[in-house]
Amino acid sequence: MTAMASSALAADAQRTSFGKLNDGTPIEKVTLTNDHGMSVSIMTLGAAVHTLKVPDRKGHIDDVVLGYDTPAEYLADPQYFGASVGRFANRIAKGKFTLDGKTYQLDVNDGPNSLHGGADGFDKRVWKIDSVKSGPIASVTMSYDSPDGQEGYPGDLHVTATYSLGKENTLKIVYKATTDKPTIVNISNHSYWNLSGAQATVGAMHDILTLNASHFTPIDSTLIPTGKIESVEGTPFDFRKPTRIGLRVRDGSSEQIRYAHGYDHNFVIDGQVGKVRQMARLEDPKSGRVLEIWSDAPGLQFYSGNFLDGTMLGKGQHLYREGDAVVFEPQLFPDAPNHPNFPSATLNPGQTYSNTIEFKFSTEK
Ligand code: GLA
Repeated sequence: MTAMASSALAADAQRTSFGKLNDGTPIEKVTLTNDHGMSVSIMTLGAAVHTLKVPDRKGHIDDVVLGYDTPAEYLADPQYFGASVGRFANRIAKGKFTLDGKTYQLDVNDGPNSLHGGADGFDKRVWKIDSVKSGPIASVTMSYDSPDGQEGYPGDLHVTATYSLGKENTLKIVYKATTDKPTIVNISNHSYWNLSGAQATVGAMHDILTLNASHFTPIDSTLIPTGKIESVEGTPFDFRKPTRIGLRVRDGSSEQIRYAHGYDHNFVIDGQVGKVRQMARLEDPKSGRVLEIWSDAPGLQFYSGNFLDGTMLGKGQHLYREGDAVVFEPQLFPDAPNHPNFPSATLNPGQTYSNTIEFKFSTEK
């Protein structure tokens, strides 16, 4: 903060060591700080958000994302705390898809399906730091080169993640990817939000959620979309008006809620795909913190932290339990390669995949 005031820059970026993995691989982190009380640390393991601090309505600053104290703990973690997930965020049925007449078998790591790129997805890889900038907008760009055949995916894929923070309390993330062979790509960020604070004794189920989605994609018992696009009208999936998440998260009369043990569904966001538009608004009545999620992606996976089962010892030895935090992943629809009626996930040589995500913070009285 002092360095920033003296340089009169709106935002500052600091690169520091973040310890080592058990095999000795050094991990770094880059912390972006602005002069409105917001800071975010991104580590090279999984290009993951490790810490994100924002003020509450009284100006009290708290870390609002779940995670671990050391990078080594993330490698054993099936939760994807804060990670950049890929090559294909969310599930692909039986880990199989066909492209240009050829069938590919991906690593299967979630029951019968492939989840978040397979067991060693982008979240388990050490990314390279390409650039770190302070200025009116502070930023870090990290990249990862995924070789042809990794986890079963075709093509050498070059991926970049740029995180930036300016004077507004908005974290902007831009994912880009290019390939040398036709392939499939779907990259998103997997931050878990507890707006009361990652170490609060209260979870996220009392938060008020608005989703700009008139439709969602129902799933089967293995959480794979059936291919239908259904109206949210009259279902626990209607968040078009601000609604407390906990109100219907235990609505066992809904088979969809039973399959997922709560919410773990893709919402079809209204408005124009390809245009950064508001997808969701989350308000924590206790702290007054508000998070808006904006993106140009077609869908938003909303996951209510159903697999947080009290066995994870998070930052500060805090135990994470079901519903302690929620995840919003702007992305293509899950299992898109196996549903011709879903927006395509194919990336060809010469094209650039891109997903822009904005997490905007404010407070309410
Ligand atoms: C995504 C999935 C969930 C779960 C989490 C990680 O959000 O949709 O089912 O696997 O990742 O635990």
